[in-house]
Amino acid sequence: MARGELMKKLLSSYGRDDEFRGVVEQIISEEEKKNNRVLARSLRKALDGLTTRPQAKGLSPLVPFPDEAGEFIQRIEPVHTPDDIILTHDNIELFTGLLDEFRKSETIKRHGLPVRSKLLFCGPPGTGKTLCAEVFAGQLGLPFFFVKLDSLISSFLGETATNIRKTFEFARRQPCVLFFDEFDAIARSREEGNDHSELRRVVNSLLIFIDQIQPGGFLIAATNLDAHLDPAIWRRFDEVVWFDHPDEAMVRRYLTNALKNTETEFEAEDFVQSLADYSYAELEKICNQAKKISLLDRRKSISKKDFRDAIRYAERRRMRLRKLSNNQ
Ligand SMILES: Nc1ncnc2c1ncn2[C@@H]1O[C@H](COP(=O)(O)OP(=O)(O)OP(=O)(O)O)[C@@H](O)[C@H]1O
Ligand SMILES: [Mg+2]
Repeated sequence: MARGELMKKLLSSYGRDDEFRGVVEQIISEEEKKNNRVLARSLRKALDGLTTRPQAKGLSPLVPFPDEAGEFIQRIEPVHTPDDIILTHDNIELFTGLLDEFRKSETIKRHGLPVRSKLLFCGPPGTGKTLCAEVFAGQLGLPFFFVKLDSLISSFLGETATNIRKTFEFARRQPCVLFFDEFDAIARSREEGNDHSELRRVVNSLLIFIDQIQPGGFLIAATNLDAHLDPAIWRRFDEVVWFDHPDEAMVRRYLTNALKNTETEFEAEDFVQSLADYSYAELEKICNQAKKISLLDRRKSISKKDFRDAIRYAERRRMRLRKLSNNQ
């Protein structure tokens, strides 16, 4: 195998001890074939000296991901924590309940009761659906796998649904959070009454798999469509979780948190009302822009004017985006 390919395999086996050892074995045997005995020997010594890292308590060893899935599934290391996300009381209660259920799943199953494990996240862009899935995976202590549905669907058009089956088989065996982003792709393809029978076949088999799977961890799908979501889709999930733009109290909390390590010449309160109706992602952009304006002007603190200018940028950006979507 080409050196580049081996390097790629080595990197993608990061965190999976058995797979990592297998790839190193392959590198050693290639070096032996090339008669690079000294290198092969020292690699073997280094490999033998490696101790297997203990798995996190309570986690089963990682099952290698099917190779074919590499192009549409990515493992993400959760970096955000619950402190980074603002959730409604309802959602906090819901996620606390789900965590509790997951931790006591053996007891629940022993009593013949189902454990909720399939979640659908709905809501406008930039309201924390992806962030929440990542934070939730971190809280559960489960690996987080991100599925790009657009590429999953397009890579299977013209092929069999075998790879979809492999993906679900993986999620059944490997306790993990399998996150289907842009689930709108599925919803839309049904909505448009698409004539593309092949596409419909793939979408339908995906829905059947979602229906049948009892994941070892969680299956989470996220979509921007809400009111128009086909019941055939949402009824397959144990919970539908709503995400929305922040209300005044949440804007206040967001600003206070985002500006806590920065000097400001104003109070978060001064802007709470003018920021109604913005998404969290837009609030993040505004705060970052205000920080940049003062930084580029070599000032230590953000002035009220900096923040107002940043809001103006955001308004202009909104107008341009509106124009774009009107032209489509
Ligand atoms: N509820 C929230 N609390 C704090 N920050 C948030 C929240 N929601 C979004 N953000 C900020 O906005 C960024 C983008 O959010 P995220 O990608 O989770 O939105 P999304 O709902 O998945 O959007 P899309 O529908 O476009 O995929 C986050 O990385 C975070 O910085
Ligand atoms: Mg998202």
